[in-house]
Amino acid sequence: MLAIASDHGGFALKQEIMTHLRATGVEFEDLGTYSEESCDYPVYAEKLGKAVAAGDYEKGILICGTGIGISIAANKIHGVRAALCGDCYSAEMCRRHNDANVLALGGRVLGVELAKRIVDTFLTAPFEGGRHQRRVDLISALETEQ
Ligand code: RB5
Repeated sequence: MLAIASDHGGFALKQEIMTHLRATGVEFEDLGTYSEESCDYPVYAEKLGKAVAAGDYEKGILICGTGIGISIAANKIHGVRAALCGDCYSAEMCRRHNDANVLALGGRVLGVELAKRIVDTFLTAPFEGGRHQRRVDLISALETEQ
């Protein structure tokens, strides 16, 4: 199962992405925000990030104005590997090499059609494992060191 969340800066793109997910038959839960009223992106990064890290969702999508703040915040949560992507190559490689479990998008940066393709790529590209597993394990080791 997939979770999606945004702040007000990502709200409009979140609506577009949810319409796209419904149209393509991808099940998801919307963890907010539910309007364009100003709110704080770390709140939504925490809500979604903790749920993904706990295994409640396999993957998540986070959207703020640039995707920067919400990805920085999400990556503070142990077990979250959030990748801010503005192109499909990055979306594919963050899955293949980094086993990213959260995709971050900039709602004020990306066109809707590009964002949809980035989402599709993120949701379908597999993790390659092998030497990349070792590197992901080293990231996890950094977390346990802290
Ligand atoms: C909100 O105005 C904006 O700062 C936020 O959506 C995001 O872009 C932060 O990184």
